[in-house]
Amino acid sequence: MKRIKDYLGGQPQQDVVVKGWVRTKRGNKNVAFIALNDGSTINNLQVVCDLSKFDENLMKQVTTGACLCVKGDLVPSQGSGQAVEVQARELEVLGTADPDAYPLQKKGHSMEFLREIAHLRPRTNTFGAVLRIRHAMAFAIHKFFNDRGFFYLHTPLITASDAEGAGEMFQVTTLDLDNLPRTEDGKIDYSQDFFGRLTSLTVSGQLEGELGATALGRIYTFGPTFRAENSNTPRHLAEFWMVEPEMAFYDVNDLMDLEEEFIKYLVQYALDNCQDDLAFLNKMIDPELIARLQGVVSTDFVRLSYTEGIEILEKSGQKFEFPVSWGVDLQSEHERYLVEKHFGKPVILTDYPKDIKAFYMKQNDDGRTVRGTDVLFPKIGEIIGGSERESSLEKLNRRISELHMDTRGLWWYLDTRRFGTCPHSGFGLGFERLLLFVTGMSNIRDVIPFPRTPKSAEF
Ligand code: 4AD
Ligand code: MG
Repeated sequence: MKRIKDYLGGQPQQDVVVKGWVRTKRGNKNVAFIALNDGSTINNLQVVCDLSKFDENLMKQVTTGACLCVKGDLVPSQGSGQAVEVQARELEVLGTADPDAYPLQKKGHSMEFLREIAHLRPRTNTFGAVLRIRHAMAFAIHKFFNDRGFFYLHTPLITASDAEGAGEMFQVTTLDLDNLPRTEDGKIDYSQDFFGRLTSLTVSGQLEGELGATALGRIYTFGPTFRAENSNTPRHLAEFWMVEPEMAFYDVNDLMDLEEEFIKYLVQYALDNCQDDLAFLNKMIDPELIARLQGVVSTDFVRLSYTEGIEILEKSGQKFEFPVSWGVDLQSEHERYLVEKHFGKPVILTDYPKDIKAFYMKQNDDGRTVRGTDVLFPKIGEIIGGSERESSLEKLNRRISELHMDTRGLWWYLDTRRFGTCPHSGFGLGFERLLLFVTGMSNIRDVIPFPRTPKSAEF
């Protein structure tokens, strides 16, 4: 069964069948022009109905949002705007859409309103474009890694360990919350819970990813991750997708090379394969989008240390909401100053203070910084976080006890350092942050089909 994309790119032909949803209907008393869309492309197929051949009551049901099956001939179009159109012979209304009730009428709707009808917004041009690009990027991620000999490792979503050590986990339990079992000292008795212990949704697949990399050499995970951080910002979701490659024998420089190659590959893939959707978004959402994408693939990312970055920020004379000094965690206003104002291109910052980074990062000899890298992007801020990993069991154990972490649950992770430890590195790319960049959308809620944010889990 052919779809509208095939017809629009094909030759005129007799006896075609098209199915899709009405975007608009216009015309006069003799003829109706119906713009039909089936989601295969942002472009609509024009269906022309000679009204003398169609029942008036049937045509009344052809309203925005109705679902049609049309039979006719695909002919060269008389109008401008399209090469071919369908001269309808038969028309069946598969599903009506009452114009008084269907919320997606022709006028443009605000992103806020569309979030309230997230079940229908994929039928708009903007969300159709975003979702097709989202698919293309997911496909390109698998292609990139597969072509380079990485193995896709499925890491668990339910876990007993907090990979980032930030305590932002959603608990998973089957205990009766109205009647919790207690131990003798009054604590909740998790031994009676489903897994016999306290478990949560994962914040990252990295720790298990490292197990894979120290066996298969190069792996990646690509799946949902969950963070119970109460951040109501345009860049945070409580459920987001993360791509996490992990590579044995990569040092921090190899890591940065891969980060840069990876993002450029994905952006180039979008430029090559999502032209119609990008052209639409460039016209309707962000007039600098395509230029920005082309800019990123043709420029070398800046690499500089956190310490140098802080110096630039301190000397900038800029008034930041959060003041900067060595040791602070960079806020998105700082990251964006470096990327957008100072350098005008993506920046990879390295060698962060150990106190603002996770326990697993490789410690530098200075005793105060670690080999962490954040890739900072225009409009987004942090798009990737990664590091070379601490491969020495002794140093890792020392850091874990400095941080008063509970190592009991981590014995299996530490075994990678006990048995055949090796230098290795990895990173995590926030899939929706990438999509913000590639689509030019400004709110992360608008690049995932059904966003999960504080106080919001409809649909
Ligand atoms: O910097 P993060 O926290 O790093 C990790 O989780 C590491 N374990 C990754 C690794 O080395 N394998 O998160 C990685 C990326 C961030 O750079 C950001 O793009 C994205 O995940 N991210 C979020 N995206 C949307 N909503 C949130 N709440 C996010 N938190 C992080
Ligand atoms: Mg980070």
